[in-house]
Amino acid sequence: MSTQIDHLLDESRRFPPSPEFAAQAVATEQLYTDAAADRLAFWADRSRELLHWHTPFTRTLDWSNPPFAKWFDDGELNVAYNCLDRHVEAGNGDRVAFHFEGEPGDTRTLTYAELTAEVKKAANVLTKLGISAGDRVAIYLPMIPEAVIAMLAVARIGAVHSVVFGGFSADSIRSRIDDANAKLVITADGGYRKGKASSLKPAVDAALTGGDGTSVEHVLVVKRTGQDVDWTDRDLWWHDEMAAAPAEHEAQPFPAENPLFILYTSGTTGKPKGILHTSGGYLTQTAFTTQAVFDLHPETDVYWCTADVGWVTGHSYVVYGPLASGATQVLYEGTPDTPHPGRWWELIEKYKVSILYTAPTAIRTFMKLGRQIPQKFDLSSLRVLGSVGEPINPEAWVWYREVIGAGKTPVVDTWWQTETGAIMVSALPGITSLKPGSAQVPIPGISIDVLDDSGTPVGEGNGGLLVVTEPWPSMLRGIWGDPDRFKETYWEKFGDKYFAGDGARLDDDGDLWLLGRVDDVMNVSGHRLSTAEIESSLVAHPLTAEAAVVGASDETTGQAVVAFVIIKASQTDAASAGDVAEILRAHVAQQIGAIARPRQIFVVNELPKTRSGKIMRRLLRDVAEGREVGDTTTLADTAIMQVITDAMK
Ligand code: WTA
Repeated sequence: MSTQIDHLLDESRRFPPSPEFAAQAVATEQLYTDAAADRLAFWADRSRELLHWHTPFTRTLDWSNPPFAKWFDDGELNVAYNCLDRHVEAGNGDRVAFHFEGEPGDTRTLTYAELTAEVKKAANVLTKLGISAGDRVAIYLPMIPEAVIAMLAVARIGAVHSVVFGGFSADSIRSRIDDANAKLVITADGGYRKGKASSLKPAVDAALTGGDGTSVEHVLVVKRTGQDVDWTDRDLWWHDEMAAAPAEHEAQPFPAENPLFILYTSGTTGKPKGILHTSGGYLTQTAFTTQAVFDLHPETDVYWCTADVGWVTGHSYVVYGPLASGATQVLYEGTPDTPHPGRWWELIEKYKVSILYTAPTAIRTFMKLGRQIPQKFDLSSLRVLGSVGEPINPEAWVWYREVIGAGKTPVVDTWWQTETGAIMVSALPGITSLKPGSAQVPIPGISIDVLDDSGTPVGEGNGGLLVVTEPWPSMLRGIWGDPDRFKETYWEKFGDKYFAGDGARLDDDGDLWLLGRVDDVMNVSGHRLSTAEIESSLVAHPLTAEAAVVGASDETTGQAVVAFVIIKASQTDAASAGDVAEILRAHVAQQIGAIARPRQIFVVNELPKTRSGKIMRRLLRDVAEGREVGDTTTLADTAIMQVITDAMK
């Protein structure tokens, strides 16, 4: 890691904003000044300015019971009204909300008026099915307009959505449904990925059968691919229910702290955490950052965030932030390389996308394919580029700006997490002089520091652990059903400061460089995966005696899952090592989802452990990355690493 940091800190290229860009920028220096003068007044002003409050709030922050924050808590609003009706009432009903493009090339345009009408009907469907404020609804859909409509309909009636990424397995759906006691699941027959119809409903069916029964009363099924599906009494077609639903639905106000969604993310233990977000603070910060960080001019821009709504980036920067801001967006169902490797660039040309927000993994993949592919398309509409999910190396940053942004667009590297709900650290286009590879500075109103292990600020020129030192509007309000885990995970280490789990370094200018996770969470293609969760899946297989998983660095995906397994003595004859690896890779994909499938599985006879029995993943990472194995003196058996290294040759 240290050579990587040294290399990063050699980066001396700077990209100041052009005068033309600065002249029209949404962000202003004044934002920093105001936030520094009075942070709470700053957020209260943003919230009043950006949102419609049915009942205005008088209290900005209640931090009397840390770490449980309440923001704007005596105010009332309706999140969906803020994303829809008010734009229509303001005369912008004809503005396009979504240019939807299906992977097979089918398209659909939804104006704000049309999207509002759809959400009103869907809200009536949910009410008819017995869903009311506070109830949980699981959503397992492809990237189609119905995903957004379903989320907003749930929000509109004050219920709570739990979106499960379409790549997750039946087991993952089941555990999320059970944890939140969801009453309803909204899914589709399937979706299009990589040129073919891939099914979704069978995973929901499997999730709902077996076990001890389920809290789910109904399954609403969107017809997307037309493939055959099994049908039970609890299933209802979305299109039938929508056709029968009344068109009118008046949005009722709900308290600012009404739960909006639960989103599960990987932690350091095997069980995913249900991160809870609420309404007023979350919507304030997502709307503010959408406008200031992406320089969004909603009347003229076409914005495209490529994230799936199954991840937090899709929640905050496809659904809530952009829609609260009245943005026109592109929504694309499929994979970037289907039917040809220039599909994204073709879409940018077709819809004249001006703001693109994506992940470093995608950028590095395009870099590998070569600039001749994007260069076949007219990308001149682009004026702001964003990056999220993992550190972006300076080479990828510069390529992104040069090749995609014609050497002139600002590139904003945005650091945040499922837990933070919205962007926390980022340059502001038009204001900040950009530094490739650095996420740079906290946005106005956010207080960040880097501490050493004992809680002392490391100061400029040093590395340590990233913390958020003051509560922020879109912060998680807890882990669903587990207040103790919430306190332990984020607040025990530094008391009143939020421990993010990321390493970071402050350079001599005070700019932040993110250095990756400091815990057992991996980041594969910008997706968080837990080593413990994959290990427990591996040991659940009858072949496996023990397993250790590490995130090894990978040129394209940032990190890749590499597993070391010991086969049960009784099973060693059952299959060859190669077969075992294939069987277990398939098993993990089936248990958790394809994104968790290990890149490699090595069958070993022993694992490196300390005398107290803790697996030394650091050493396994050395092996997986083909490095000289580091200090082994704390190993119980110091010869073991040689045995493992030899076994892998
Ligand atoms: C990492 C995604 C470096 C980080 C929004 C964090 C980043 C985790 C960046 C959260 C960035 C996210 N630079 N690392 N710009 N953005 N990360 O919850 O390790 O899926 O803790 O949220 O991704 O991942 P999550």
